Amino acid sequence: MPISKIRPIRSYVLRQGRLTKHQAEGIKSLSSLYTIPFGDNILNWDNIFNGEGKKIIEIGFGMGHTTAEIAETLNTFNFIAIDVHSPGVGNLLNKIKEKNLNNLRIIQHDAVEVLDRMTLDDSLDAIHIFFPDPWHKKRHNKRRLIQEPFLELITRKLKKGGYIHVATDWEDYANWIMDVFKKNAMYKAKNSDFSKKPLYRPKTKYENRGVNLGHQVWDMVFIKI
Ligand SMILES: C[S@@+](CC[C@H](N)C(=O)[O-])C[C@H]1O[C@@H](n2cnc3c(N)ncnc32)[C@H](O)[C@@H]1O
Repeated sequence: MPISKIRPIRSYVLRQGRLTKHQAEGIKSLSSLYTIPFGDNILNWDNIFNGEGKKIIEIGFGMGHTTAEIAETLNTFNFIAIDVHSPGVGNLLNKIKEKNLNNLRIIQHDAVEVLDRMTLDDSLDAIHIFFPDPWHKKRHNKRRLIQEPFLELITRKLKKGGYIHVATDWEDYANWIMDVFKKNAMYKAKNSDFSKKPLYRPKTKYENRGVNLGHQVWDMVFIKI
């Protein structure tokens, strides 16, 4: 059964974010070039990017500043960035154009469904998730993206030796994520525990907000074994 049928709880709330003029223009003029519509077709990365390269999915890119910077730095890798919010999509489309990035495309949809229905098994080199919504109230914990069913899904999609990099500024979620991965025999933590921030990850917009509130940040990198 597709995971989308057994996972009605979403890890995001769809807000009616207002688009700036620049974002609206970006969506109008650049979507056909850089976005991929959600559908039941399996993504053919080599066709999309016109050549081979490591395949990295980012879940929840927010406004996309970090996404664009990473794609610019790791320019031999290919990225599909997924989020549900239009202002971020408009913003990232404009960044792709400004930076002339050939290695980044966007899907505006629930990433769980994109992984489940559009992604070949054992195909991904990496998954990046930077500052997933913490859903910190106990009664909301069930909405957290990273939990056992999600691990089962990504275990199917990652290649052996592929990695998942998660960062959060919520201590409770950091420990929760560490626990979920440590209980799963398919993963080992890259540094046997929390990692130092890898050099390729610049600070994100959401992270800066957390740091200004005095939050600490935890990076975690797990390898599929
Ligand atoms: C707290 S924000 C962090 C954004 C960005 N990574 C940053 O650090 O600035 C989390 C983002 O994840 C997105 N998100 C949450 N669950 C998602 C899902 N299942 N599929 C796609 N995007 C999701 C939200 O829409 C939101 O933009």
